[in-house]
Amino acid sequence: MTGPELAEAGRLLAAARRPVVFTGAGMSAESGVPTFRDAQTGLWQRYDPQELATPAAFRADPALVWGWYEARRRGVRRARPNPGHRAVAAIAARLPETVVITQNVDDLHERGGVPAPVRLHGSLFAPRCSACARPAPVPPDLPPPADPPVPPGGPEPHGGVESHAPEPPDGPLIPPACAGCGAPVRPGVVWFGEALPETALSAAVEAASACDLLLTVGTSALVHPAAEIPLVAARLGAPVVQVNPVPTPLDAICAVNLRGPAGEVLPALVRAAWPDAG
Ligand code: APR
Repeated sequence: MTGPELAEAGRLLAAARRPVVFTGAGMSAESGVPTFRDAQTGLWQRYDPQELATPAAFRADPALVWGWYEARRRGVRRARPNPGHRAVAAIAARLPETVVITQNVDDLHERGGVPAPVRLHGSLFAPRCSACARPAPVPPDLPPPADPPVPPGGPEPHGGVESHAPEPPDGPLIPPACAGCGAPVRPGVVWFGEALPETALSAAVEAASACDLLLTVGTSALVHPAAEIPLVAARLGAPVVQVNPVPTPLDAICAVNLRGPAGEVLPALVRAAWPDAG
């Protein structure tokens, strides 16, 4: 990617000191992790979210829901961070006040070199008791991550674009019982109809309120309250730069819209901001 938009976005990034990077499912698409709403490929094209991603669905059939999340967890373990994840880590390494806020429940930001992103929708790797909320161990038989963690700016392993859309859950899987109260363990993600974790949401609003640039990457900006975060930054005068192959409801508030995949656009943006970045 080249052109005046990229140059302008690079100028804004180079001038920033407290950027926010706000990411959605598109950030991990090139790692082979399906998005939610992309036609044909998005998870919600194949599964009804109401049947799998709500408290009522879990109460109705805990094994179906647990099995589905198990399959997604395996898929993520087989995935690798893509060059977009590494570019986000490079931005955070260069600008220590960077805050990365993600809607994603995969761990590819961490494996890509961002140790502690703000997680608005939880994590596939933080199961807890559905009754007493006691944290539960991640099932031991999970395959190890496909890639060793690489420190920010470390050597770029070959991009692992292994397609691994989760196969239909190979049958329901009875969730483990809580070691404390014996109730079923549930995935540590935010389901439809549930509130976002308060600490994460207030940290995200605080960062968006204080930022001098917000980079929004790979989100359809349809799910609230997460989708408010870029609006908070724009309302307070921070420029917003969007990376997405297609238009979204955020287009109108963006100083620059970069149309392309995160795995290609973000490394180009880092080079545009810091030509010495190599
Ligand atoms: N690079 C950048 N963006 C991409 C790429 C890519 N390679 N591939 C797809 N996209 C874009 C799509 O165009 C779309 O706008 O990523 C966006 C993905 O949108 P969704 O699937 O709606 O995902 P997201 O915005 O993260 O969903 C928000 O909804 O289902 C819930 O809790 C779930 O966190 C999720 C929330």
